[in-house]
Order: sequence, then structure tokens, then C-alpha cells
Amino acid sequence: MDKRDVTVGTGSELIDTLKDIVGAANVLTEPVGQAPFLGDWLGKYRGEAAAVVRPGTTQEVADVMAACAAARVPVVPQGGNTSMSGGATPDASGRAVVLSLQRMNRIRALDPIGQTIAVDAGVVLAKVQEAAEEAGFFFPLSLGAEGSCTIGGNLAANAGGVAVLRYGVMRELTLGVEAVLPDGRIWNGMKALRKDNTGYALRDLFIGSEGTLGIITGAVLKLFPRPTARATAFAAVVDATSALRLLGVIRVHCGDRLTAFEFLTGETLAMIQRQIADVRIPFAQLPPAGVLIELSDIDDEMALSKRLERALGTAMEEALVADAVIAQDRAQANAMWRLRESVSQALVREGKAIKHDISVPVAEIADFVAAADLAVAAALPGIRPMVFGHLGDGNLHYNLMRPLAMNDAEFVAQSAVLTRIVHDETCRRHGSISAEHGIGQLRVDEMTVCKAPLELELMRALKQLLDPDGLMNPGKLLPA
Ligand code: FAD
Ligand code: MLT
Ligand code: ZN
Repeated sequence: MDKRDVTVGTGSELIDTLKDIVGAANVLTEPVGQAPFLGDWLGKYRGEAAAVVRPGTTQEVADVMAACAAARVPVVPQGGNTSMSGGATPDASGRAVVLSLQRMNRIRALDPIGQTIAVDAGVVLAKVQEAAEEAGFFFPLSLGAEGSCTIGGNLAANAGGVAVLRYGVMRELTLGVEAVLPDGRIWNGMKALRKDNTGYALRDLFIGSEGTLGIITGAVLKLFPRPTARATAFAAVVDATSALRLLGVIRVHCGDRLTAFEFLTGETLAMIQRQIADVRIPFAQLPPAGVLIELSDIDDEMALSKRLERALGTAMEEALVADAVIAQDRAQANAMWRLRESVSQALVREGKAIKHDISVPVAEIADFVAAADLAVAAALPGIRPMVFGHLGDGNLHYNLMRPLAMNDAEFVAQSAVLTRIVHDETCRRHGSISAEHGIGQLRVDEMTVCKAPLELELMRALKQLLDPDGLMNPGKLLPA
């Protein structure tokens, strides 16, 4: 597929050209139509756009990119707009075109023998999960935004979620990628090969690039055997240290049947219960902390549940677990997951949070929590850490809420100091300041602190090669 020869000026000429390419109904220039595309899910960022364009095919994406390149107009790719780092929100200049992949939502093919599924980038994650399920397979990426995030956004942000422990991040679930370069050329990398050793891994350049190197328009994803048995439990623990030791016990008893291991402090559990009406912690007393554990297998459900019960029994004998509830049916298991997945919404209702998405080597996660708790409390007495996340991946969402005696504005003014403390504790342990949410615009200034000069030099060289005019998602991921 070649890119259409497009020579345009800026402004209304470009808008007319875009309407020729995608149809007038798919070029939004009015504030009302544009509004849902200009703010982020957290309500932290708001931008302006010359237009929101909604192409329906890869060729239309290519033609839109060629037109914007010819007009030197920046492009902000957007999928489900659920980014937690402001990655899909345009700046306030009003110069950019937001390119929404929403209309590119076809499932292109499913191969039951090769166990792969080929999709458009705009397909919502939940739809891919359903298509896999209907065909008797399982697509394991799972996160709280799965009802609206898209495969293209999952790839561009290299999404993680609650099943990384067993299945890996989006990069590990992907075999092929189709992408449109900033100049409108189409790279068809839609291969379903499990092995292909012919040069640099171009696919992996686009995964995690956060829309700064081109537009992902399609992908070939791995499918997995659909689990026929699940065993789910909530265990009450004292702290991250006992949770980490519990992880070890579960691993000894359950091996790679362990699919999820989600940690939440007692304060976080209490906050969720306070803010979300229909969720309940599964204990009579609020524990100091809790762990949601899920096993899955293509085995007998009773046998799996017994295995989990034995593991928890051992943990109790070792005084790692004070109490545990094993879900007796899917409804109870779903209620436990509802509690976990409500945390993001609960936090928004609780008030302004200074959010962190850190990862450290798994063995250091408990030390990190203890050290960070001490350091932030010394810096701001009365501060309220709300800590939860994917402990088994070494990834916690270490969020901070204001001291009750402080108002939001005073608290937010402390963001830079508090984030520096949290990230110093992270980097000291050779960790990452963004485990899964990406850099976006939220963390772009920290890249100079947390990445080695050579790493930044190599990333800038790649950016210069693919996007020499700097039109792709300006202000995101790479510092100017
Ligand atoms: P968008 O938000 O639209 O875009 C994300 C980034 O990708 C932006 O930089 C955008 O420019 C770029 N982009 C989007 N589509 C394309 C494309 N086709 N080509 C090139 N660039 C593109 N994330 C996790 O990793 N783990 C979690 O557990 C998790 N839980 C969440 C829970 C909630 C309630 C919410 C609101 C978010 C959560 N997220 C989580 C963050 C977010 O859902 C993920 O990053 C998701 O992958 C973003 O997908 P999206 O389609 O919404 O992308
Ligand atoms: C999660 O794990 O729930 C997500 O990453 C969202 C969040 O951190 O709020
Ligand atoms: Zn997460």
C-alpha cells in the first residue's frame, strides 16, 4: 500500500484534505465533538486540537499522516484515552491533530492452530478477550480499563495489568505489528511467526513508544489455552514483608498456576470500601494489608482449590497469614476482583493523589515500602500512603493522599518534593519510575534523572530517524 500524494497547506486546506480522506463526519473541529478527546481519564490534563480525526483503515491513517507531515502539523495518537500519564492528551497550543483509532476496530483473523489473533489497533481489549473466549482460547492481558482501552494503546504503552506474573506484559504477548510512520509510509509487520531472526526487532521499537514513533494500526497477538479452573482467595497479612514471604509459599505449592498476586494495604482497602458502595472487604476486621491471589489451570476446579487451601494452611502455620477467605464460587471471586479493580475510581473520589507507578527487584519491594513510608512521613507528617498493586512483579502503585489537616492545593504543591523522595528510594534500588503506565507528559522531565545519558542519546537518535520533524506526540516520553 503506497501513501497517497498529498500536498496541503495548514489550517482549512488541511482540514479539507482530512475530510476528503476520512469523510467529513470523521473530522471533528467543534469543541463539543472534540471534548471527550481533549482531557485525560484522571482529569489532570486538558488540551486543544486543530481537529480530531477518526480514520477507518490503515490506508486512511497513512493518508492522514502524510497530509499532517506535509503541513508540519503534530499528531497525537489516541486509543481508549485511559492513559494514566497524560500520554494521549494534546498540549494547549491547538496545533495538533488528535488521531483516534476508535473506528479501526475489526478483528481481522483468528488462527486456532497457530493460536494467534490479528486485530486492528482500535479494538477494545475486552473485545479481544471475548473473541478469544468464544474460540476456546484466552487472551491474558487484564486491567481495570479493559472495557475501554484499545490494543493499540496497550501496545504503545506496553501495558501490564494483573496477569503479568504468569503471562508477561504486552510486549511478550505480541508477535506482529503493523504501523504507519510519521511520513505516511506503512510498515506491514503483521507476522504470526513464533521465531523470526532476520535483523533488528522493529516490532519492539513501536511497543512502548507511546505514539512518539508512529501509529500502530494492527497487531498479531498470542492466544493461550483457556483455563477451565480458577481458585481465588483473599489473605490477610501484616505488611509487604509477610506478603512477599507468602508469595514464596504459594509458588512452592502452586508453581506457574499462580496467575495473580495483588497487594493492598489496609488503608487502601478501607478507602475503597469508603468510596465504593457495593464492595466489601471479605474479613470481619480490616487487616493491616491484604493479598488477592488467583490460580488458574486446565485442571479440576476442586483440585485447584484444595491446592490453594493447602498453600494457605502452610502460610498460616508460618504465621504469614492471619486469615484467608477462599471464594466458594465465581460470584465470590468476582466480588474480590471488583474490590481490587475499584481502587482507581475510589482514589479519584477520595481526592487529589500524588501517584507513583514504581517497580524494584521483587526481593526489595518490602524494603522499598518501609523506607518510602518513613521518608514521606518525615517530609510531611500526616501524609496517607495508599499502596497497592502487582507485588509479584515488583510493581506497586505507591500513591500519596494529603494529610487530613491539609487542603488539596497545599498538598499538590508538595508533589515535586514527595515524588523525588519516592523515586530516589526507587532508583536507589535500581528500579523504574514507570513500571507500566509509561512516561507520557507526567514523567517526561524525570527521564533526565532516571535514564543514563547514553540511553537518552540512543532514544533521541531513534526518534530523529523516524520522526525528524518531531511531529509525533510532542511533549511525551522524551524530554525536549
Ligand atoms: P490511550 O490512553 O489512548 O493512549 C496511551 C498512549 O498510547 C498515548 O501515548 C497514546 O498517544 C498512545 N497510543 C494510543 N493508541 C496508539 C496507536 N494505535 N498507535 C500509537 N500510539 C498510540 N495500565 C497498565 O499497564 N496496567 C494496569 O493495571 C492499568 N490499570 C488501569 C486502570 C484504570 C481504571 C485506568 C483508567 C487505566 C489503567 N491503566 C493500566 C492505564 C491504561 O489503561 C493503559 O496504559 C492502556 O494500555 C492505555 O490504552 P488506551 O487505548 O486507553 O490508550
Ligand atoms: C491498577 O493496577 O489498578 C492500575 O495500574 C491503575 C492505577 O494504578 O490506578
Ligand atoms: Zn497497575
